[in-house]
Amino acid sequence: MVETPSNPPSGLSDVPPEKRPRHIAIIMDGNGRWARRQGLPRIEGHRHGVASLRRVVEECGRLGIEQLTLYCLSSENWKRPPQELDFLMQLLEQYMIEERSGILRQNIRISVIGRREGIPDRALKQIDKTLELTRENTGPRLCLAINYGARAELVDAVRAIARGVQSGRLDVESITEQTIDDHLYTAGMIEPDLLIRTAGEMRLSNFLLWQLSYAEIWVTEKTWPEFDEALLHEAIRDYAARTRRFGGLEE
Ligand code: FPP
Repeated sequence: MVETPSNPPSGLSDVPPEKRPRHIAIIMDGNGRWARRQGLPRIEGHRHGVASLRRVVEECGRLGIEQLTLYCLSSENWKRPPQELDFLMQLLEQYMIEERSGILRQNIRISVIGRREGIPDRALKQIDKTLELTRENTGPRLCLAINYGARAELVDAVRAIARGVQSGRLDVESITEQTIDDHLYTAGMIEPDLLIRTAGEMRLSNFLLWQLSYAEIWVTEKTWPEFDEALLHEAIRDYAARTRRFGGLEE
């Protein structure tokens, strides 16, 4: 857990671009807790969560972050009450429609990782439209993990590799870490440098287990609806002050 410096410079001008993470992944947790504390229904927490999401996407673009990956719905979230899931699906559909012009204006390329099963057709239609419209964009990548689970992703990768071996396209002895990388949903993307988790929980919750191997982890007690530009700056500032060794020794 990190303490806020008493008077941090605004706008992150103290962290040069080369010290900033290229890719930030976020577990957006605590929407329900935030709503309960306000005396509001859980779904209001998710609605306010979308406002945080919008703020963070814009700020990451301004800071020159190349990729932002957000855990929107895990494969385990299907255990939630149907009304809450319906609302999350509506929010997703609405997000894709309402944010489309802003996303295009910011030259953002959208990616979605996760299994399509279970996502209503209406939401899929809007997701696919946004994917298509932003395909050629050259700005930051916004990757949304929807119905995502890292173990399911690894199962899908193993199946694809096994099919490759079965058909003779792949040779067992030539399978490397790169082969696995190439068969994940995140194939072709850069690895996250920084993982942010809100609402104080110290776990990965089946998020990007392979890709986060060397990421720096930063956890705040603040819930996702409370997450703002100042907290994002605090996380990046803390990241910039760390020494990453990737298993080696400090130089
Ligand atoms: C965790 O809070 C949050 C989620 C399961 C969903 C995150 C979704 C959003 C921020 C909005 C939806 C995104 C899009 C793109 C429409 P929680 O409900 O687990 O909170 P709790 O742990 O306090 O109960």
